[in-house]
Amino acid sequence: MIEKRLALITGGTSGIGFGVAEALAGDCDLALAYAGNHDRANSAADILGKTGSEVKLFPGELSGYDDAKRLFDEVLSTCGKSPEILVNSAGRIRDGFFMQTDFSFHEALVTQQLLVTMALCQLVLKPMYGKRYGRIVNIGSITGFYAKRSQVNYAAAKAGINGFTRTLALEVAHRGITANVVAPGLIRSPMTEGIVRYLESDSGKKIAQHIPSGFIGEPEDVGSLVAFLCSDEARYITGAVIPVDGGRSLGDTGI
Ligand SMILES: NC(=O)c1ccc[n+]([C@@H]2O[C@H](COP(=O)([O-])OP(=O)(O)OC[C@H]3O[C@@H](n4cnc5c(N)ncnc54)[C@H](OP(=O)(O)O)[C@@H]3O)[C@@H](O)[C@H]2O)c1
Repeated sequence: MIEKRLALITGGTSGIGFGVAEALAGDCDLALAYAGNHDRANSAADILGKTGSEVKLFPGELSGYDDAKRLFDEVLSTCGKSPEILVNSAGRIRDGFFMQTDFSFHEALVTQQLLVTMALCQLVLKPMYGKRYGRIVNIGSITGFYAKRSQVNYAAAKAGINGFTRTLALEVAHRGITANVVAPGLIRSPMTEGIVRYLESDSGKKIAQHIPSGFIGEPEDVGSLVAFLCSDEARYITGAVIPVDGGRSLGDTGI
């Protein structure tokens, strides 16, 4: 029997990360990292375990390099190998106007979103170099290239992920490793419950105003693209930043 590839998905127990896990399940074994919502993680593992994949859970706040290293070491010892696939989806939003907030408010989010992503990429890359194979997908956001008030920290982190991933892609391409960004627009998830409720409260009128496709994306809309980028068929796609946003980033301001 051919051994399944191992995919490490941060934030793999909820929302977009879970959509990615569902899309990879069956073909890959799954190592799912999450912060601390154990009920959600256990129910995700129950669902994904029915596909025949090995599913392991790795709880713990990821807020800097040491946390990333701890996670990587735990995955190595629990799964017996390093991941061939890394999807960085863990993340929160922390909105606040720049001039009304302390610097530390922004520093924490940028560290969690950007530096943890960079740390995990560096940790998985060494063994990927040896295997001459690897797939990295970092979940960005259209906020990485499309400004939104009160999201300076999130915009800085997501734009940083774009620049980091494109440059990384260039450095590792010769070892059979690809690195891409998938940049979602509005996707239904626990993170976006409030805004989704607001947009859906007026029989779709507000949705059509903001999203050209006229509907809100689901985690599987992101998951299917990520799974393709992680496949052997996607070997020639690297350094791409691909929006999944129903056309929202195309820039129609309506005036
Ligand atoms: N939903 C959208 O519309 C949207 C749009 C653009 C980009 N994104 C990006 O997509 C990614 C996932 O968002 P989502 O909507 O799927 O969010 P979500 O449903 O809230 O899921 C977030 C996941 O990340 C984990 N997590 C969060 N912070 C963590 C930390 N510091 N350490 C370890 N785990 C952490 C959570 O664990 P617990 O459940 O244990 O807390 C959960 O598994 C994020 O990077 C976000 O910026 C989302």
